[in-house]
Amino acid sequence: MPLDRPFDPDTIRAWDRDHVWHPFTQMKDYVARDPVIIAAADGVRLQDIDGRWYYDGVASIWLNVHGHRVPAIDHAIRAQLERMAHVTLLGQGHVPAAELAHRLTSWLPRPLRRVFFSDSGAAAVEVALKMAVQYWANQGVERPKVLGFTTNYHGDTLGAMAVAPDPTFHWPFLSYLPPNPRAPFPYCYRCPIGKRWPACRLACLEAVEAELARHRTELAAVIIEPVQGAGGIIPAPPGYLRALRALCDRYGVLLIVDEVATGFGRTGRMWAIDHDGVVPDILCLGKGLTAGYLPLSATVATDDVYAAFWADVGDKKALYHGHSYAGNPLAAAAALANLELFATSSLLADLPAKSAQVAARLAPLADHPYVGDVRQQGLMVGIELVADRATKRPFPYAVQAGYRVADAARERGLLIRPIGNVVIFMPPLASTPADLDAMTARLCDAFTAATPALADLAAGTEEAPV
Ligand SMILES: Cc1ncc(COP(=O)(O)O)c(C=O)c1O
Repeated sequence: MPLDRPFDPDTIRAWDRDHVWHPFTQMKDYVARDPVIIAAADGVRLQDIDGRWYYDGVASIWLNVHGHRVPAIDHAIRAQLERMAHVTLLGQGHVPAAELAHRLTSWLPRPLRRVFFSDSGAAAVEVALKMAVQYWANQGVERPKVLGFTTNYHGDTLGAMAVAPDPTFHWPFLSYLPPNPRAPFPYCYRCPIGKRWPACRLACLEAVEAELARHRTELAAVIIEPVQGAGGIIPAPPGYLRALRALCDRYGVLLIVDEVATGFGRTGRMWAIDHDGVVPDILCLGKGLTAGYLPLSATVATDDVYAAFWADVGDKKALYHGHSYAGNPLAAAAALANLELFATSSLLADLPAKSAQVAARLAPLADHPYVGDVRQQGLMVGIELVADRATKRPFPYAVQAGYRVADAARERGLLIRPIGNVVIFMPPLASTPADLDAMTARLCDAFTAATPALADLAAGTEEAPV
């Protein structure tokens, strides 16, 4: 594909280095590493400013669904652009938002019918938290807290951080965040109560129940990711979400499910809640909503939650939250085209076979001397590196062990972005079997190539806390 907009790669490199402050990136490290700068994309591959092609092994941070430059989505955005690029949703409507809310809810369990649009996953979570707290406040009940889980991640805004505080990422803000209780997540590889699934019969839920019992009068909701993403691709075991729903019902608190990362087919079903047949009170969607094209997110609530906000203006029960670009029409048009592709293509039907293919191709990694655990649900894969397989001793965060593999993968034409010790592989869902073969082969080669560097790191690192 020709690059039709001329640029000088060295100038772009200099401007990027001198002016762009990259998200979630230590810039000192970034400028030292000859960073990848992308100029174009096509299908499941990305082209850098020097003309090199790479597979998009993390779906452009977990959001790309049908690949890049998909004619139907490109066309939908262009057609919408002919009508209008943006108008507000504050106190007025627009055509693509109405169409999208209608279409989206037809894909969701029936009680989830009320769609509040925002523009990022974090904003969708922020809205969910505020909805939950205000749901009670509007009924005259003060319940200011939300129960989160250990190793969770819900975004980088203050509310999202407050339910998922992380000493590595959020240390400057910890005293700034309102305290919320937290329960252990079912991280089976490092089971918080030293048991094994399925023999454990989800015994770790007892700790969740204890938190619910202790805080029941102050808890508005529980928030959970069905598969923890940034925590290291950790799927909750089968049945866990259903049991959690039952606990929430028993203790009378709302359930918020954050499907920003898992929604839109990522776990092999349209929604991760489908695996357990669970209906939350509030559902957060983002990332794949526009197939990875434009910023748009949604917080979807049940009729019951919505009803608590229905009042006279003077009662001040409205949800006073909104972003200027919430529900942007171009993004909504992309999302509609995305859903149309889900409805008309074999994408969802093909996912079980693709997921099985990836599992088979990556199976040898379980024997790698520095791999502790290979976790997968659908096309969401996390491979946890450990300095010692017998003791599960992690590599210290500072050595960035995952980058030994990511750098080797980049040399082989596959871009991935690890988080700490977890190498993450999340290809676009539309990757063909041939694409998946090519990507997994590169990934396995990268693990082999990184072995000596990982051995050096393992030999040179002290015991680190788990
Ligand atoms: C589960 C989950 N929730 C929320 C977010 C935040 O989304 P965004 O980066 O669009 O703000 C993420 C991002 O990775 C996520 O994985």
